[in-house]
Amino acid sequence: MASRLLSTKPLDVILRETEETSHGLKRSLGPINLTTLGVGAVIGAGIFVLTGQAAAQYAGPAVVLSFTLAFFACLFAGLCYAEFASLIPIAGSAYTYGYATLGEIFAWIIGWDLMLEYAFGAATVAAGWSGYVLSFLQDFGIHLPPQFSGAHGEMMVKYNGIWERLGRIKATLMSQHINPMSLPHLTAQFNLLAAAAIIVVTVILVIGIKESANFNSTMVIIKVAVVFIFIAIAGAYVLNHPATTIDVNWKPFIPPNKGGFGNFGWSGIARAASVIFFAYIGFDAVSTTAQEAKNPQRDMPIGIMGSLLICTVLYILVSGILTAVVPYTSLNVADPVAVGIDATGVVWGSILVKIGAILGLATVMLVMLLGQSRVFYTMSNDGLLPPWASRIHPKFRTPWISTIAVGIFVAIFAAILPIDVLGELVSIGTLLAFVIVSAGVWILRRRRPDLPRPFKTPWVPFVPIMGIVVSTFLMLSLPLATWLRLIIWLIVGLLVYYFYGRKHSKVRLMNANADRAT
Ligand code: ALA
Repeated sequence: MASRLLSTKPLDVILRETEETSHGLKRSLGPINLTTLGVGAVIGAGIFVLTGQAAAQYAGPAVVLSFTLAFFACLFAGLCYAEFASLIPIAGSAYTYGYATLGEIFAWIIGWDLMLEYAFGAATVAAGWSGYVLSFLQDFGIHLPPQFSGAHGEMMVKYNGIWERLGRIKATLMSQHINPMSLPHLTAQFNLLAAAAIIVVTVILVIGIKESANFNSTMVIIKVAVVFIFIAIAGAYVLNHPATTIDVNWKPFIPPNKGGFGNFGWSGIARAASVIFFAYIGFDAVSTTAQEAKNPQRDMPIGIMGSLLICTVLYILVSGILTAVVPYTSLNVADPVAVGIDATGVVWGSILVKIGAILGLATVMLVMLLGQSRVFYTMSNDGLLPPWASRIHPKFRTPWISTIAVGIFVAIFAAILPIDVLGELVSIGTLLAFVIVSAGVWILRRRRPDLPRPFKTPWVPFVPIMGIVVSTFLMLSLPLATWLRLIIWLIVGLLVYYFYGRKHSKVRLMNANADRAT
């Protein structure tokens, strides 16, 4: 039994399947598409929303150090992903790597865990996106019914004539000694905009990868341009007015701990790192498009490392400038980057940032949902999920049924769960995948040193070990409730495996037939 659970899928079989897919998915992506796909997946709700919250609640200006710490987790794991993605260029990403190295049960756990990253990641971004859209619409006097503007059960209050999420303006109300319950208030039913965004992106994905990639490239260019504009305007402002910005707002750079883990000080830097780790998630999504890449062996590592490095430089600059230009205490809002640019007095800046965030976050949802349906596609090809999940549309040549199923599931979660619950779950799930992928690279190096590796992770085992250590450290910095949610999710997954996957696994069938033949 245990040996069956640990059946590995032979690498030659995996590689042969990759060859045979010329009749399946279209190979249309080059290195630039892949890097833009990576940047498109990475820059999103993390930098546009969570940076402000992490600075205000946990780390202050030292959120810059949190970004550096989280970068190292991604660097080590990213180098491991790059080796795997060039060796096993198949749509399943970490799931397939786990199947080839650690065995079926681990592959299943990773595949199930990747849902936390991709499906719940898309839901998190949709929730962040809706915050920017609501704020943008309010600038033009357009107000959505408050019942449909927040997560299920979220408290909404009417302040200065505008319905706001209580979480967003709580600090403002407290500073003015206003009791929120003395204002008109109600409980939200669901987040309509977040669900609608997911449905639109799903339709685009069903129509096709090439079309999606073109749409994605345009949006990514706009998003990166807006990030550059923020850096240029706010950075110049800080340089020209140091006495009213950096000299006051960066002092102290690491606010002293206020008691308890994560409440500023060094532990606050660690807690903030585990939260803003979300901002880096997505560069690994490049690996899920391996079967759609023209030359995956060469281009996968370029796409993964290139997008990670570009985003790291931008994040460190944005978080440093943001905490210099305004006091970190004022950043606990749904649109902190817009607040930052407002402080420079450039009137069109905030509208521009909001437009950039709205378009930019759309691309993140796109890549995350793309990644999720491709992981399902591969799991279904292996028999661990029902056959409909890998059915390709005759005209569009996309795994349309799994794309639609994922879209519906994600739209529901985006509509009912709040952004912080979603985001922390995504971080812990992704960190777990990083731990397993790092371990997998090391194991495969020992078991199959002979395999041709077009890209080799440097300094093995140091890099994989560091990938495991830093990712585990960040997981431990997340709250207990997030751990409990992860454990429940994994238990549900194991039940699905027990009742379905175990009985339909093609690798098990292949191994059983081979046993019978001998
Ligand atoms: N890194 C992505 C974001 O920040 C998931 O939205």
